Amino acid sequence: MPLISNPNLIAGIEHCDDAGVYKLRDDLAIIQTLDFFTPIVDDPYTFGQVAVANSLSDVYAMGGTPLTALNIICFPIKTMAISILHDILRGGLDKMREADVLLVGGHSVEDNELKYGLSVTGTVHPDRVLLNRGAMTGDALILTKPLGTGIINTVLKANMASDDMVNKSIKTMAELNKKAADLLKDFTTVHACTDVTGFGLLGHACEMIEGSDVGMIIDSSKVPVFSEIKPFVEMGIIPGGLNRNRNFRMPMIETGHDCPKWLIDIFFDPQTSGGLLISLSPRDAENLVQRMVDNGIEYARIIGEVVSEPRGKITLL
Ligand code: CO
Ligand code: CO
Repeated sequence: MPLISNPNLIAGIEHCDDAGVYKLRDDLAIIQTLDFFTPIVDDPYTFGQVAVANSLSDVYAMGGTPLTALNIICFPIKTMAISILHDILRGGLDKMREADVLLVGGHSVEDNELKYGLSVTGTVHPDRVLLNRGAMTGDALILTKPLGTGIINTVLKANMASDDMVNKSIKTMAELNKKAADLLKDFTTVHACTDVTGFGLLGHACEMIEGSDVGMIIDSSKVPVFSEIKPFVEMGIIPGGLNRNRNFRMPMIETGHDCPKWLIDIFFDPQTSGGLLISLSPRDAENLVQRMVDNGIEYARIIGEVVSEPRGKITLL
């Protein structure tokens, strides 16, 4: 498909970036993104919260500030009580309020399967756009949320999840990446950023280095994960998307002897509303992680570094 290029287009669909960014003026660019999906939790209000946190995340991942949003609703009005939709929208609205985002409209259609999400518009200074590419040799890598929410959703569907596990997963998914993104703005050495969603940690990390002249080393013992899911992963209770992610990207992964298979699976787990993956100068990394932890982003960790060789590969320690 031939793409139309434009000098004002800062991020389009070419490099799988998190959102589209278009320069309006020398000091202002607009960010546009849209995301919606079927319920991944039972409670409608919570689903609304998670869906909105997820939809806003791509704007934060670009270094931007979300301003306005439009609801996207597919609802089976003939088979489902309208009160369920009201609860979803209430959860979504509360999350938008928390993010200082204005709901300005939306569109709903009748559908056999319930789906909800947002189209979001945000802004950013054109010089402060955070692309998923641009990681530099020597950078430290930071991840801000624990991995495993996709697996927990699958365990939940199999009726095998503990309340504690589900509650932790929901809390993580409903958490805005706003605070992490706000803290990032104080640092000028952030070279690349994305959010970890459907392709899992390693899938999105691969997008950051694909076709570039750098590689990554990730220390598997440092990556925040919900470790209580280990037995379920070993039993093979994992989402289908995880297998697809692993099959697609494994050629770019070098595994050390010390990285167990169940952890590699978790690194490919599709996340809903996952954390930010940030590449920045090592001299700022400790400071940023400390400020994140101090501000309640309790799982934020340095998980690895950007290296010159082997380029285009991710080495798991
Ligand atoms: Co994204
Ligand atoms: Co997205």
